[in-house]
Amino acid sequence: MENTSSHVIAVDGLAATGKGTLARRLADHLDFAYLDTGLLYRAVGIGVLRAGGDPSDPVAAAKAAQALNPDVLVNLAQDPDLRTEVGGDAASKVGAVPEVRQALLKFQQDFAAHPPLGKKGAVLDGRDIGTVIAPHAKVKIYVEASPQVRANRRFLELRVRGENVTEASVLAELQARDARDTQRATVPTKPADDAVILDTSDMNADEAFEAALGIVEGKIKH
Ligand code: C5P
Repeated sequence: MENTSSHVIAVDGLAATGKGTLARRLADHLDFAYLDTGLLYRAVGIGVLRAGGDPSDPVAAAKAAQALNPDVLVNLAQDPDLRTEVGGDAASKVGAVPEVRQALLKFQQDFAAHPPLGKKGAVLDGRDIGTVIAPHAKVKIYVEASPQVRANRRFLELRVRGENVTEASVLAELQARDARDTQRATVPTKPADDAVILDTSDMNADEAFEAALGIVEGKIKH
């Protein structure tokens, strides 16, 4: 259940739209807690791979999700394997499994309702924050950018990390992931009816942040 005393900001959008950077900056600026919910799905996907399974196998995916406990979930940011393309691909496969989404629901809703360290609010980024996890969030931002812009941003990021990819392969992988994320039967990615759409195709990170902050300040009074 959501506790209305916590300010919740939902930042949703497809892969590589810049929503993670944006959400983290909003949380820092507002002194709110921040949760990257993609990491939860990545942990499940990588968990299946590490056990020698196939992330598209619903039974293996559900088992890996049910094996994650809150102590593990709070430390996910430390695991470098999760942020790889392999991690993202596995995440989007397990994210289509209803039992996986159900197993991760309570952790996310508790985080939103009772942000850690006594913070007075929480910023969560993902695909279904505004629609499923926190439907009563005061602020919902759905971040968009064109596939070419997103592929270019992700390519530059991966190259810095030393991953061996081309821009064309990144675009193809993004489009496959978009198709899975928007067309799956369970919680397809889409903006909540009351979300504000923020198209960052022609914005740099600072401009996107300023635009998002403007949306937040219009909705939350401190
Ligand atoms: O945001 P990120 O790229 O880390 O997400 C990885 C994958 O996890 C997404 O492609 C999506 O399929 C899944 N996901 C989800 N719901 C969320 C967050 C991520 O289904 N709230």
